[in-house]
Amino acid sequence: MKKLDARFIKGIVGPDPVLEDGTPQIAFIGRSNVGKSSVINSLTGQKGLARTSQFPGRTREINVFRIEDRVYLMDLPGYGYAKYSQEMRRRLLRLIDWYLIRSPIRPRRIVFIIDGEIGPTADDLEVLEALETTGTPIVILANKMDKVKPSRTPVRLGEIAAAVGAHPIIPYSAETGLGRKELAAELFG
Ligand code: GTP
Ligand code: MG
Repeated sequence: MKKLDARFIKGIVGPDPVLEDGTPQIAFIGRSNVGKSSVINSLTGQKGLARTSQFPGRTREINVFRIEDRVYLMDLPGYGYAKYSQEMRRRLLRLIDWYLIRSPIRPRRIVFIIDGEIGPTADDLEVLEALETTGTPIVILANKMDKVKPSRTPVRLGEIAAAVGAHPIIPYSAETGLGRKELAAELFG
């Protein structure tokens, strides 16, 4: 698959004109370290676009990337990183909650990323339930599927489906590119 034209626009922490310029937004949300930034890099085919880290808590603002001049990918900070101070955790949750739930801004789609090896955690299911109240279409991305043994994959995906309900699920690996075509079709097709 070809590279997508993608560029970093800015990091935001609250209301900003970029959110109101009429460009459709797609939000990438998930626990800290599940690979949100890596998924954006693999999807666009641009390795260094979004900063990633082996340590949780890399992304602390909502980073806006413009793709092919027609859509914004919104790389959100992760939630649930235990080592953050309580103040930092609260600040990040407030930002996520403001953008996705309380503000009048409505992304066209939410890409809800979970760790496919671990499956949805209690935290994930709580956030998912809150997001469902907004009515925004949600696609579940089970990332890191390269860490699941192929023989276990169907069982794993069945468990994830049973936990998350009716949303479409895409098995994904930012590492191998598994699912990239499906995600691109789902978002841009
Ligand atoms: P925060 O910004 O801290 O919330 O993290 P994030 O969700 O953006 O995660 P990030 O993309 O920084 O990736 C976290 C770690 O997971 C890095 O060490 C990545 O290399 C690794 N990782 C991401 N996706 C995959 C994947 O599909 N497979 C494997 N094996 N590792 C992955
Ligand atoms: Mg990140």
